[in-house]
Amino acid sequence: MQQKIIILDFGSQTTQLIGRRLRELDTFCEILPYDKFPHDDPSVIGVILSGSPYSVYDPEAFKVDLSRIRGKYPILGICYGAQYMSQLYGGRVEPAGTREYGRANLRSFEHDNPLFKGFDENSQVWMSHGDTITAIPEGFRCIASTDKVQYAAYQAADEPLWGVQFHPEAYHSAQGTLLLRNFAVDICGSRQDWSPASFVETTVAELKAELGDDRVILGLSGGVDSSVAAVLLNKAIGDRLTCIFVNHGLLRKNEFRDVMKDYECLGLNVIGVDASEKFFSELKGVSDPEKKRKIIGKGFIDVFDAEAMKIKDARWLAQGTIYPDRIESLNITGKVIKSHHNVGGLPEKMNLKLCEPLKWLFKDEVRRVGRQMGMPEHLIGRHPFPGPGLAVRILGDITPEKVAVLQEADDIFIRGLREWTTENPDGTQTSLYDQVWQAGVILLPVQSVGVMGDERTYEQAVALRAVTSTDAMSADWAHLPYGFMAKVSNDIINHVKGVNRVCYDISSKPPATIEWE
Ligand code: XMP
Repeated sequence: MQQKIIILDFGSQTTQLIGRRLRELDTFCEILPYDKFPHDDPSVIGVILSGSPYSVYDPEAFKVDLSRIRGKYPILGICYGAQYMSQLYGGRVEPAGTREYGRANLRSFEHDNPLFKGFDENSQVWMSHGDTITAIPEGFRCIASTDKVQYAAYQAADEPLWGVQFHPEAYHSAQGTLLLRNFAVDICGSRQDWSPASFVETTVAELKAELGDDRVILGLSGGVDSSVAAVLLNKAIGDRLTCIFVNHGLLRKNEFRDVMKDYECLGLNVIGVDASEKFFSELKGVSDPEKKRKIIGKGFIDVFDAEAMKIKDARWLAQGTIYPDRIESLNITGKVIKSHHNVGGLPEKMNLKLCEPLKWLFKDEVRRVGRQMGMPEHLIGRHPFPGPGLAVRILGDITPEKVAVLQEADDIFIRGLREWTTENPDGTQTSLYDQVWQAGVILLPVQSVGVMGDERTYEQAVALRAVTSTDAMSADWAHLPYGFMAKVSNDIINHVKGVNRVCYDISSKPPATIEWE
């Protein structure tokens, strides 16, 4: 049975990071709303209470009954989690004079406490709290202090219950991962057996059991998540999985053809639908970014549904939904605040059940699983690409001619990024493509004067966009080498007919966004 640690989420922005850190320790975990503890789940080995935007004194503060949890599992409270338990069991929490925020050092700590095994003197921790614990409950003892925070950590006497007011999950807590390791492995007994190989093995077995002889439909986008989901399902049910890949005509140069080939090589049963003409005719003359998006979204669902309806005996619709999609979709009271927009009305129309085999994985774990299954690196390492495709990179109305110009320029830029490598400190090479989160070219509704040979030109301008990011929530423009930019600019102007000017977008997100529309 897959062991798991439950992280009860009290709404902190860093709750997901706690999950990440545990996964990095090859320990499976689930983040659940603070009041949704799975009391009947025999695979739980420990519990973490997260931080919260609330003070324990706020009337709306989240409160949880720990009576069935304390004594049964090891517990670690982090920040609000620590303050909440302290207050619940008779200690005192008060507003700190000033918000305790930033780096601090553990001046003294209980060296033989299992939570601090391997800790250095003065270990740096990250503080971020407005309240502070001023008295701990009777029977609890202080096990760490900083210059400003007396009760930086406590433990209940002879009980596996700890609270830390700092954030071990934060990058700036130098030994935070060690603390989480001490908790997960030494205290909770994690076998650290969460790995891509074990995931593939257990998931394929579960899918076989769950799906039996049923037929499943899956929409492929060419992106990493849906491709990995398809290969997993293919391993479990083979040809009973039918994949549908819709070409809306706004993909990259040759992408539809190349990706179809990749899918066939992977042994997937794929129906490729070229609906370019439908999309071009519906988009004709439309310049408004939101209208373009709506037309493409609706058109996509229409084409996908029509194709799916032909598969009469399908029982399931599979999706490449991943964990961050779901966490964003649920707030901590468990209410859906953003529904999955890519499902459309198909599940109801065809009476399909949803199958989401990647729903517990983070993006980089999806990539590790794909590699584990032997998927080619160019498919696994692909940059994200927006659903509406090049439509949001052509400012103004869309025509097949503009798409063709943009595809050429984009192809030169992307190929260039793949071919240009820089040396790492260990002597290995990494391509610029792998160094950036995402890149593309934008066709601007601007013409400018140029000169080619003896001729005056009056042609279009394009912007190059390349960003670094970890999650697309924020991004910085990539500081690409000047030599590379000079080469790409030359190549585009010399080879793409109709373009005589290349600019580089140096805006970060926020306040700009990654896409221009
Ligand atoms: P922005 O432009 O909001 O983009 O900074 C953030 C990330 O989301 C991608 N993106 C989309 N992906 N459908 C998608 O599947 C869309 O409509 C869409 N719009 C933006 C964008 O490429 C970037 O990775």
